[in-house]
Amino acid sequence: MLASIKALDSPVGIMAEKTNICLVGFMGTGKSSAGKLVAQQLGKQYIETDAIIEEKAGKSIPEIFSEDGELHFRELEIETIREAASNVDTVFSLGGGAVLNQINIMYMRQSSVIISLTARPEVIFQRISKDGKEKRPLLAKADPMQEIEKLLATRAPFYAAATDLIIETSDNEIDAIVAQIINLYDEYKGSN
Ligand code: S3P
Repeated sequence: MLASIKALDSPVGIMAEKTNICLVGFMGTGKSSAGKLVAQQLGKQYIETDAIIEEKAGKSIPEIFSEDGELHFRELEIETIREAASNVDTVFSLGGGAVLNQINIMYMRQSSVIISLTARPEVIFQRISKDGKEKRPLLAKADPMQEIEKLLATRAPFYAAATDLIIETSDNEIDAIVAQIINLYDEYKGSN
């Protein structure tokens, strides 16, 4: 583990081939569903940073938000992403707000091809409603659709800055999204 961290920190290591794929994007854009399948198909391990945060904290994300506050969640998120970024041959799915702290993207960029998933607000709303809105404390509002639109507008520049590889998922089945992610990753590998 130490050796791989060293390699990533060295100037040569930073230029080394990226064996990870990191999926970013708003809640409900399909990061987790697609990430698991991409990992399976490419024979890579799958890491959802929110799951590690829950393990570290010993409680669920909504409990972290309500008992410790969003700021504490963001600190745990930074620590988790910093530690996870030194993995190799991994597909990561980051929480939707991870892009808000640029340091998260800096850590991930060293080892991963970052791909952003997007979807239209009404599609996000539908998908999240299926999952159960209580899982997403930021959308536990009187008018979640309005909140989605507001957050999407605020965050758009952050998603855009994180990557120029973007996949619009609104009208695609999961298999097509997975294929697009793998294509983009192969193109990256082919050009490096
Ligand atoms: C968040 C997204 C969630 C989770 C937390 C905060 C956000 O992850 O990290 O509720 O700020 O957008 P998903 O994008 O996996 O739902």
